[in-house]
Amino acid sequence: MENILEVKGLKTHFRFDEGIVRAVDGVDFRIRPQGTLGIVGESGCGKSITAMSIMRLLPRSAKIVDGQMLFRYPDSRNIEQIVDLAQVDEDGRTMLEIRGNRIAMIFQEPMTALSPVHTIGEQLVEAIRLHQDLSKREARNLGIEMLRKVGIPRAEQRIDDYSFQLSGGLRQRAMIAIALCNRPLLLIADEPTTALDVTIQAQILRLIRELQEEYAMAVMIITHNLGVIARMADEVAVMYRGRVVEFADVDSIFHAPKHPYTKALLRSIPKVDAPRTARLLSIRGTVPEPFAVVPGCPFHPRCDVAVAGLCNSGEPPALLPVRNGHAVACVLETEESRRYA
Ligand SMILES: Nc1ncnc2c1ncn2[C@@H]1O[C@H](COP(=O)(O)OP(=O)(O)O)[C@@H](O)[C@H]1O
Ligand SMILES: [Mg+2]
Repeated sequence: MENILEVKGLKTHFRFDEGIVRAVDGVDFRIRPQGTLGIVGESGCGKSITAMSIMRLLPRSAKIVDGQMLFRYPDSRNIEQIVDLAQVDEDGRTMLEIRGNRIAMIFQEPMTALSPVHTIGEQLVEAIRLHQDLSKREARNLGIEMLRKVGIPRAEQRIDDYSFQLSGGLRQRAMIAIALCNRPLLLIADEPTTALDVTIQAQILRLIRELQEEYAMAVMIITHNLGVIARMADEVAVMYRGRVVEFADVDSIFHAPKHPYTKALLRSIPKVDAPRTARLLSIRGTVPEPFAVVPGCPFHPRCDVAVAGLCNSGEPPALLPVRNGHAVACVLETEESRRYA
């Protein structure tokens, strides 16, 4: 296995008295070592639940019901391991060795990820000593070094601040410092800049890129913002209703999109030269109710090119290769369609 992570047919469902919510319902993608995968899709399409499945930090009501998440990493004795993260015990030794150490995660809202009752330094020292055999003093020094690395001024003083004493941008930097203190192989960044203003957003994205290079890590960046995808990703998985509907390198996604949903997403980006008053185009219709089961292609009710009898019945289309590394889940675009032609 050359990839660092291979997710195949992942299904994570919520079970409620009212029914099942298929939050993640057959997700496929891979991440190359040191590569950057962008995951893009509208709110509620299952991006965060995919990330939480990989981290094995799901809410109690959610269960991984199918699929594989193969993760390749060198263990503490530097022996290469391939584990299926879907199969390991979420509180077991393997997951404890991986979470926060081999795979780290940052979130949209540092206020909820950071503890309000511990200083940044206490949280850094705890995260470091969980995985590295260092004294408190050594861990604190490493913590200060990490805060410097992420661009926090006067790091040796700021380390004793509480998260609420920092600005939004500095809080995000502190969270990145904690995430990277054990030099993860994979950083999952879930909407890392959505809550920040545009200038700070650009700085944080640049910081992630620089640290990615320095640490030679892979990044999985989750966003609903195609601008962030264009800046960061080298490969892209487009998600719709719990599934990956298109996977390709970033240039193909922007210049040769295949899936009608990807095309609609691209049309919804405001053009730079559009008049300021121009209304943001949106994709017609809304994402159906979470409990609703849509037969056929999950996008067909909103699709401009859907063919009755082909797109609105049966199983959802599989994600099939159309070209080298480009895959699409649309019967109108893949071999299957030719059988009906
Ligand atoms: N804690 C939860 N309880 C119940 N349903 C949830 C919960 N979190 C997410 N979901 C369901 O899973 C779907 C996917 O959520 P999520 O992965 O958070 O979407 P995204 O990150 O793409 O905005 C949502 O549409 C929602 O119905
Ligand atoms: Mg989310």
